[in-house]
Amino acid sequence: MGQYSDNFVERLHLVWGPGFMSPGGAEEVAEIVSGLELEGALVLDIGCGTGGPSIALARDMGAYLICIDVEQHLLDRAKELARQEGVGDRIEFKLVEPGPLPFQSETFDAVFSKDALIHMPNKMEIYREILRVLRPGGALAASDWLAGENAITDGSFQEYLTIANLDFIMATAEQIVQVMRDAGFECIRTTDRNAWYAALSTIEVEQIKGPLREQIVSVSDLETYNSWLSVRCALANAAKSGGLRPTHLRGYRPKVLS
Ligand SMILES: C[S@@+](CC[C@H](N)C(=O)[O-])C[C@H]1O[C@@H](n2cnc3c(N)ncnc32)[C@H](O)[C@@H]1O
Repeated sequence: MGQYSDNFVERLHLVWGPGFMSPGGAEEVAEIVSGLELEGALVLDIGCGTGGPSIALARDMGAYLICIDVEQHLLDRAKELARQEGVGDRIEFKLVEPGPLPFQSETFDAVFSKDALIHMPNKMEIYREILRVLRPGGALAASDWLAGENAITDGSFQEYLTIANLDFIMATAEQIVQVMRDAGFECIRTTDRNAWYAALSTIEVEQIKGPLREQIVSVSDLETYNSWLSVRCALANAAKSGGLRPTHLRGYRPKVLS
């Protein structure tokens, strides 16, 4: 088992919805890809988790997907959910090792990723790889948890990173834009979602303390519930203080590489 145990996934699904290991549901997925024509497009989803975002892309946008993750049990759950949602024939799930993407160059019309690039230590390598597997003119439409400019001195953000106990390697929006530019992307833009998530994460804490408490205890135990509540309070504080900045990322592979 990797970082996302079944029990952890159950808790995330209770807060974020079945198949979602990140906030915002299908609505947020639609925001990330807004303006892209994905009907019939072949899309790579990097770090698909239990499949909620990929299923939304297949069901709501008519995309075909190849979804990759490093944890087989997440892919098994995603596959079953895609079948239940009636899009099993539009999505292929594939276990990968961290590192280079196991696809030929110029394979995908678009690359999507939701809150998974944060796990990848070598940002230049992954953005170069994304550019490589995109067809000329293809788009990267992603969301990632980035760090605010104040992150190093932000006590709330540092506390969250310490107690969350996940292998998060975070960068600022400025650093990611530079990496994307150096990797060869054009028409790069970022959309800061901090205000949205600062408000939502406070509501999530109230739900975890209130209506979701019993269910969370029943899928785990009281000790896990209490320590997770501390993590979620730290997360909400990090969003409020501005250290944690969920951000949408968009960039295109040039039609002709220079
Ligand atoms: C926060 S979860 C997000 C899952 C999904 N995108 C969502 O929004 O519901 C991050 C996911 O990235 C996966 N992951 C971590 N490192 C990875 C890597 N090197 N390649 C592919 N997936 C990775 C994790 O296993 C996990 O499923």
